[in-house]
Amino acid sequence: PGKWSRRLRGTVRWSWRLTYLSLIGGTAYIIYDGYDARHPEEQYNPDPHKKTLVILGTGWGSVALLKKLDTENYNVVVVSPRNYFLFTPLLPSCTTGNIEHRSIMEPVRQILRHKKAAVKYYEAEATHIDAERKVIKISDSSEIKGVINETEVPYDMLVIGVGAENATFGIPGVREHSCFLKEIRDAQAIRTKIMDCVETAAFKDQASDEIDRLLHMVVVGGGPTGVEFAGELRDFFDEDIKKLIPDIADRFKVTLVEALPNVLPMFSKQLIDYTESTFKEEHIEIKTKTMVKKVTDKTIEADVTGPDGKKEKITIPYGLLVWATGNALRPIVKDLMSQIPAQKDSRRGLAVNEYLVVQGARDIWAVGDCAVAGYAPTAQVASQEGAFLARLFNNMAKTESLESEIHELSSTLNIKPGNAAEVTQEIEGCERQLRRIKDIKPFHYSHQGSLAYIGSDRAVADVSWFNGNLAFGGNLTYYFWRSAYLSMCFSTRNRVLVALDWVKAKIYGRDVSRE
Ligand code: FAD
Ligand code: NAI
Repeated sequence: PGKWSRRLRGTVRWSWRLTYLSLIGGTAYIIYDGYDARHPEEQYNPDPHKKTLVILGTGWGSVALLKKLDTENYNVVVVSPRNYFLFTPLLPSCTTGNIEHRSIMEPVRQILRHKKAAVKYYEAEATHIDAERKVIKISDSSEIKGVINETEVPYDMLVIGVGAENATFGIPGVREHSCFLKEIRDAQAIRTKIMDCVETAAFKDQASDEIDRLLHMVVVGGGPTGVEFAGELRDFFDEDIKKLIPDIADRFKVTLVEALPNVLPMFSKQLIDYTESTFKEEHIEIKTKTMVKKVTDKTIEADVTGPDGKKEKITIPYGLLVWATGNALRPIVKDLMSQIPAQKDSRRGLAVNEYLVVQGARDIWAVGDCAVAGYAPTAQVASQEGAFLARLFNNMAKTESLESEIHELSSTLNIKPGNAAEVTQEIEGCERQLRRIKDIKPFHYSHQGSLAYIGSDRAVADVSWFNGNLAFGGNLTYYFWRSAYLSMCFSTRNRVLVALDWVKAKIYGRDVSRE
């Protein structure tokens, strides 16, 4: 027993030492990161003789490109109406205040300040691309406008990473009455509306039917956005609202409406079943084979396909309606596609080749949700595409500089024949490098897996494992989900803020004040 207790004490002592060390190491890293963020290296101005590379958007695709791009090789100009990068995977958590919205935003100015050569940023929307003249029309779409709020930006090379907008399929009433979940302002609007519905339902002498309607939260679209939001909403109610306003506790209801026979179509059958059974336990009603056809200010009208294939019309009253039915093309993308004959058969976005060049266009590349490269519109795909373009452009710049070096060396060869052997060796070295750089492989997407939060501290994961797939779900998967997303956050600052938000919500509960 003496030996074992000594060993145990030794293990405990070592565990404490390791904990202290990691705490000290972690704190030192955070302090260093903060110092580095505030004191970046001097930036130099880009060379005006270099090519102008214009990047549209500050989302997953464009920011991944910017992160890896050697900006000293080009005159880089970024145009986007959003002056920050948004970590969308944690956006559903912002709708309930589990995470505060600024914790998942990273200012683009901060990102650009850390590049070697300065990058120009214009907070504006690109409204038209003139592929013939190689210019972009940009317009200031913010609230405050100056004397000049529309102008043109010329480009030599253009990257389009403008993402997508919310699909409504032209269904009447959707835009007027529902909330979307794509941007920070959408999450803020939902958070306010949830509490408005709850407080209105708790109003003195409120009519019983009206309480049921107000507390009925309907989510349309059983893709990952809809599922994650429904899970977060139920958690919010069960963990916080119910305790603070117990009189309405048994009236709160969440319904998920999906046109297909099941939710989460991109996950494996086992995880779909697990999600559906978890939702049943959480009292989230799933209405599958239900296609919404019309939305009014208080109801949705839908066609339900029965087991016999017959359609039945139903009307569902709601207090809050969140519309999450996927992506649609942005006007700028539609406009460009209409100018290029090679794009006439493309429906889902700009058709690109294996180097992400927009088909039928010259010097235009596209990444992310606005590009059709044969992959799903996800952050994973967009960021890999952005990183690929950065490598491509860095290589292209190196190629150009090596070619001009070879050209220069070749001309000295004629002037100084005495050094011929030395110069020839140098030329051969450059040519070898050039061959290596020019051998750029086409873009290849490497799927790491899919993760989704489904409420009650549970998540589902379809993870690529060697050549196969691993599917798992439950509480442990939730911790995997948390650590995966925490590690993927853009910066250490984001990671610290998100972790603090989680701790804060756990200790004090979510903030239910309505802004
Ligand atoms: P975005 O990230 O949408 O960025 C587009 C950028 O273009 C924005 O900065 C926008 O302001 C700008 N822009 C728009 N119009 C113009 C214009 N006219 N001119 C210039 N700039 C313009 N994917 C995953 O892989 N995992 C997840 O867990 C995940 N979770 C998600 C959760 C939610 C709630 C949502 C909505 C999506 C989620 N996704 C997830 C999908 C992922 O967010 C998208 O696939 C990804 O954002 C696409 O990146 P992008 O760069 O193409 O576009
Ligand atoms: P989605 O396209 O994945 O799903 C939309 C769903 O809405 C579809 O299942 C569709 O059948 C349904 N629908 C369409 N019209 C309808 C109607 N009228 N009535 C009822 N149902 C209708 O859209 P989502 O969830 O917004 O995702 C967009 C993209 O972002 C996807 O590629 C997705 O993979 C990705 N994403 C990934 C996440 C993750 O990995 N955790 C989280 C969120 C999004």
